[in-house]
Amino acid sequence: MVQAKDTVNLGRSFENLTVVSHPLVQVKLTDAREKSTPHSKFHKLVSEIAGLMLYECTQDWPIRPRMIETPLEKTEGVEPARLLTLVPILRAGLGLVRGMVDIMPDARVGHIGLYRDHDSLQPIEYYKRLPKNTADGRVLLLDPMLATGGSAIAAVSNLKASGCSDIRMVCLVCAPEGVQAMLDAHPDVHIYTAALDRQLNDIGYILPGLGDAGDRIFGTEE
Ligand code: PRP
Ligand code: URA
Repeated sequence: MVQAKDTVNLGRSFENLTVVSHPLVQVKLTDAREKSTPHSKFHKLVSEIAGLMLYECTQDWPIRPRMIETPLEKTEGVEPARLLTLVPILRAGLGLVRGMVDIMPDARVGHIGLYRDHDSLQPIEYYKRLPKNTADGRVLLLDPMLATGGSAIAAVSNLKASGCSDIRMVCLVCAPEGVQAMLDAHPDVHIYTAALDRQLNDIGYILPGLGDAGDRIFGTEE
């Protein structure tokens, strides 16, 4: 596949990272990166990419046998054997929820509210609400951007404090700095991303990135 050289870190790999390189994901991500893409289209693209990424990060989702009856005869099918809870990091993580729930309507949704302080880049927590028994199943932590990693590290620590131990993260774009920080802080949490970008700039934005994901999803600056 042809990819812009400085967009994808072709030479780098991390043991905690899977880059979903499927062409459908990469074409939609390219459209999302484009600065002229309006927020309505951007939100739709983010949601669609999330749905496609769910396919990859649930490859090993446990299932168990379930007997059903077709119009012709009885046969054995399967059903989920574990709870799955989606936990978007507010605000921008909300953009990934619809695309996943459309495919997996039984998934529950919890919320963790965090924002990065603009000067210190430190995560500030302002909200947390998890469905019952979240700790008994798998958690998919959702955030389109993994930059310094501060927000993701804080969110995972928070989930672990609530007893969650089977946690994966889904993002659209990440920086090597954030992936390394997650590997240092939470090596047990595997990250699925659509792109591993080049680097952070001096104000903590991902390059080439896609800008401020929350603002672009919700049209804050349009
Ligand atoms: C963005 C993004 C992540 C965080 C990533 O959120 O959605 O949560 O920054 O940066 P980090 O890896 O350096 O912590 P932001 O703080 O802009 O809040 P928002 O979602 O409300 O826009
Ligand atoms: N948060 C964003 O929304 N974009 C970045 O590039 C970094 C953090």
